[in-house]
Amino acid sequence: MTPFVVRSVSSLKGQINLSGDKSISHRAIILSSLSSGLTRINNFPSNKDCLETLGAFAKLGIKFKKEKKDTLLIIGKGLFGLRKPKGPIFVGESGTTLRLLLGVLAGQDFEVKLIAGSSLSKRPMRRVTEPLRSMGAKIRSRIKEQRSKMEEFAPIVVRGGALKPIAYRMPVASAQVKSAILLAGLYANGKTVVTEPVPTRDHTERMLKSFKAGLKASGNKIVIKGNKGLVSPKDIYVPGDISSAAFFVVLAAISRNSEICLRNISLNPGRGGIITVLKRMNADIRVTSSSLDSARGRQVAGGEPMGDVIVKSSRLKGVTINKKEVPSLIDELPILMVAASLARGRSIFKGVQELRVKETDRIKSMTENLLKMGADIKVIETGHLEEHIVIKGVECLGGAKVKSFGDHRTAMSMAIAGLAAEGATYIDDVSCIKKSFPEFLRILKRLTR
Ligand code: S3P
Repeated sequence: MTPFVVRSVSSLKGQINLSGDKSISHRAIILSSLSSGLTRINNFPSNKDCLETLGAFAKLGIKFKKEKKDTLLIIGKGLFGLRKPKGPIFVGESGTTLRLLLGVLAGQDFEVKLIAGSSLSKRPMRRVTEPLRSMGAKIRSRIKEQRSKMEEFAPIVVRGGALKPIAYRMPVASAQVKSAILLAGLYANGKTVVTEPVPTRDHTERMLKSFKAGLKASGNKIVIKGNKGLVSPKDIYVPGDISSAAFFVVLAAISRNSEICLRNISLNPGRGGIITVLKRMNADIRVTSSSLDSARGRQVAGGEPMGDVIVKSSRLKGVTINKKEVPSLIDELPILMVAASLARGRSIFKGVQELRVKETDRIKSMTENLLKMGADIKVIETGHLEEHIVIKGVECLGGAKVKSFGDHRTAMSMAIAGLAAEGATYIDDVSCIKKSFPEFLRILKRLTR
């Protein structure tokens, strides 16, 4: 594979409209499939992960059609309308597809085998199989030791059926696990209660409410009533993906003479950590209400907040990220490591060990790459199975030969680091970027022209 070459840019200007948020789009496909009749999903993204969810529901008997390039029509079959697929379902590398689908399949009266790609097959699944089993689903998986404890991995065979409700205190803060339990809760005979250690993105809760599910959320506790059919809002607009926006927000902040405007971006508080933290780092960021016309605005998925984000060149300073903030910026930590490497002073990112079990070990991938470019980074293990990243900002980074480790967010973070570095940066393989953001390189080219 020929490496992708990045050279420094002098300035960055322009407006960006991003395709729909990946997390919200997964939920839109799932709930549209589980309600009856037609739902139109606007600003639907064509990333690989969302297409895996769509493909999985097609195998479960759901029909869909593209109306325009970014408009998807789904014909739902109701809570009990899915049918047994002809063979196993392959979910590629999409962790959200696999974990949320397990929640849905826990409620189906048939057996399905879920197979994952090579990197997803190494990611821990016990966090989701355990609560689903206690609701009554029969689940078999591959068992292996990981980090000195027995862990479960794909492939996973699930046989669902009538479920019993549970009251579950989640040991890890994970929106995927929470969502799997809530989706299974749709099929439980009574009220399922989930308590989170720290609030995580609430896209599932918002969308379930907009599909008229019996759901109540207060503080860290969510209650869902089972066996109540879903009613589609018929038309959903998915706001732009803040996790994709994050790369351009950081790039504009660390580049000279730059100003960009990202339009109609999802501003869910459970995802807004990147903006809050960059503002603490002294970034010149302004968030305004959305420029979408009000008719469109009213259809925004589950009342998800949305707005325009305007970023200008800034002189960043070091920051402390507390462990409670981590879920609100978990996917943005790699790009924040780039920002911190070029900020004045020291940054400390606390309790970030979940990065070890993403598409790749992102603590390793980002540290290894940024060290090659001259960054000053240390990883500290605390005695409580927690890890902190300590970064001392440097005046400038230097181009180097780096690796994506097959991980989309490592690849995009290194492209941004390369654009801010002196000399050329070579990234071994950027094909993984299509997992979440197939338009990334095209937009980058346009902005830096
Ligand atoms: C996601 C939740 C997060 C995030 C992932 C998408 C979701 O994972 O990292 O990219 O859509 O619910 P965890 O639930 O494992 O924290």
